Amino acid sequence: MWLTGISGAGKSTIASAIAASLHETGRTVLPVDGDELRGGLSSDLSFTAADRLENMRRAAEVAHLASKSGLVTVVSLISPSAQGRQMVRELVRHGRFAMVYVKTPIEVAESRDVKGLYKKARAGLIANFTGIGSDYEAPRDSEIVIDTTTTSPTAAAELVATYLRGKGWVG
Ligand code: ADX
Repeated sequence: MWLTGISGAGKSTIASAIAASLHETGRTVLPVDGDELRGGLSSDLSFTAADRLENMRRAAEVAHLASKSGLVTVVSLISPSAQGRQMVRELVRHGRFAMVYVKTPIEVAESRDVKGLYKKARAGLIANFTGIGSDYEAPRDSEIVIDTTTTSPTAAAELVATYLRGKGWVG
């Protein structure tokens, strides 16, 4: 599962709810979170378009390796470009892939501003901040759309579980 959405959209919270519901079905889940990735595997990368693509490529390859061992990987990355998301689809080669668009208006994410980053970006302290100095291209081909203004994390996890069961990918 690949969760895309702007910073503060709620990707990590929804990913945790998805992981909890998958655990109940007996599946082992590997969460891959943007902030965590950038603290380690991708700590050499910036937020230029090229580095974001590289960040996505690494996460997709991790997901590919993990899924070969039977894990369900839940990636949460802003993944702002359609080009990058298309690359991800092609890198996850077994076809059991779903893009989940965690849809939150920027005004809402900015009003939450959990990490205080929107404030910093507005003050010019963070270059290329997604939604301010850098574009987020909303996906038009995602398998699942979660509107966080109307859907709770638990309800979001249920939507995803229903999708996975429908595909026959989980019991
Ligand atoms: S991505 O664009 O490469 O997919 P990723 O999900 O890894 O982004 O990292 C996003 C997180 O990095 C944000 O939630 C935020 O905490 C932090 N961050 C720091 N600088 C930026 C920036 N310029 N744009 C977006 N997020 C940033």
